[in-house]
Amino acid sequence: MPRRLLILGSTGSIGTQALDILQQSDEFELVGLSAERNWEQLVEQASRLNVKRIAVADRDAGARASEAWTGGEVLVGPEGLVELVVTSGADLVLNALVGSAGLGPTVATLGEGIDLALANKESLVVGGELVTALAEATGAALIPVDSEHTALHQLMAGLPIGAVERLVITASGGPFRGRTRAQLADVTVDEALKHPTWAMGGKITIDSATLMNKGLEVMEAHHLFGTPYEQIDVVVHPQSIVHGLVDLVDGASLAHLGHPDMRIAIAYALHHPDLAPLPSRRLRLEEVGQLTFEPVDLDAFPCLRLARDAAVAGGTAPCVLNAANEIAVHAFLEDRLPFLGIPAVIYETLSSLGSQRVRAFESLYEADREARELAAELVETVAGTTRASSTTFGESPRVVE
Ligand SMILES: NC(=O)c1ccc[n+]([C@@H]2O[C@H](COP(=O)([O-])OP(=O)(O)OC[C@H]3O[C@@H](n4cnc5c(N)ncnc54)[C@H](OP(=O)(O)O)[C@@H]3O)[C@@H](O)[C@H]2O)c1
Repeated sequence: MPRRLLILGSTGSIGTQALDILQQSDEFELVGLSAERNWEQLVEQASRLNVKRIAVADRDAGARASEAWTGGEVLVGPEGLVELVVTSGADLVLNALVGSAGLGPTVATLGEGIDLALANKESLVVGGELVTALAEATGAALIPVDSEHTALHQLMAGLPIGAVERLVITASGGPFRGRTRAQLADVTVDEALKHPTWAMGGKITIDSATLMNKGLEVMEAHHLFGTPYEQIDVVVHPQSIVHGLVDLVDGASLAHLGHPDMRIAIAYALHHPDLAPLPSRRLRLEEVGQLTFEPVDLDAFPCLRLARDAAVAGGTAPCVLNAANEIAVHAFLEDRLPFLGIPAVIYETLSSLGSQRVRAFESLYEADREARELAAELVETVAGTTRASSTTFGESPRVVE
């Protein structure tokens, strides 16, 4: 029997690569696809792959898709995505949405006890313990789709309890590795979008340039593996060949290597606990020659520090950080905010809102809304002033009981 698979975000970078992988497999039956606005590409995918149900998050785009497509059912709005999850009969959902919009579908998937291949790291950053507790309560599997976490997941499988001393996530360093903070003041959107080793969607590419992506990944690792923050480190590795390391209590370290290719991480999650052959480029170390490693420059790239501080503060702080980051990155991509304005907006949003206790998903949705509103105002005031480059990133967010 083929496994029934639903892909959320099928028009994006991860989504289209997942569809590529499926072309080489008869192990899956696609039961649904989704997009935000890109309804024409979504309809083309559904028609080509004989999928009968799609969801479009944006209402206008959804209305156009409903008018134009007679091949099946179109569900509309964020609630349409959740309805697709709940009524799809899927055995496995690949959540490849970008941003905190992925949280609702993650909660719906795990709440239904459906296994989840999770590319949408923001779900774990924002939802944290509530998300992992939900998976545990319903028995749904939660498998990462992120090269570093796929690496760690694979390395840790079968290790005895108490064997792990430290997890190490590698970072390429992005297009601005080696620059000082002052040299980042005038970088352009085009420069920031030129990632040296990975081809990805716009938001994660900017997160890689600021190193916020590594901050989100530290939180992702903490929630996936239950590892305390002080035992998760980041090291810069420009070749992106080593994806993750596990240091063991006896002094040995395990490393996961491969050419940068997200299809390996996607295929790992889709086939887990099996491993399927993939026609990817094989690693020959003698051809690679040198692998180099260096520490992160937290002065030039304060986003990683801001993320760690928010992670340790806990409560709503990671949700606030994530929301402010989404707003600031969006503004940078639209040329409304300089590159250094991204950490400035995040820092000021966090300093102003602090951290509240989280008792239910509702408090997260509320914190997300509030942080987005404030960050949008801050974009206006930070842009065009010297605050973008002169902010000093002081105290950690306050935790309000
Ligand atoms: N790309 C990578 O190599 C990579 C690697 C590791 C982890 N990830 C993670 O995987 C996730 C997806 O990244 P990506 O690079 O594939 O992103 P992407 O290329 O921007 O694609 C995002 C997908 O989600 C849809 N979408 C965007 N906003 C939405 C919303 N508000 N509601 C519903 N659907 C929405 C998009 O639809 P439209 O096409 O209509 O915009 C698209 O299908 C992110 O969390 C990222 O951090 C990505």
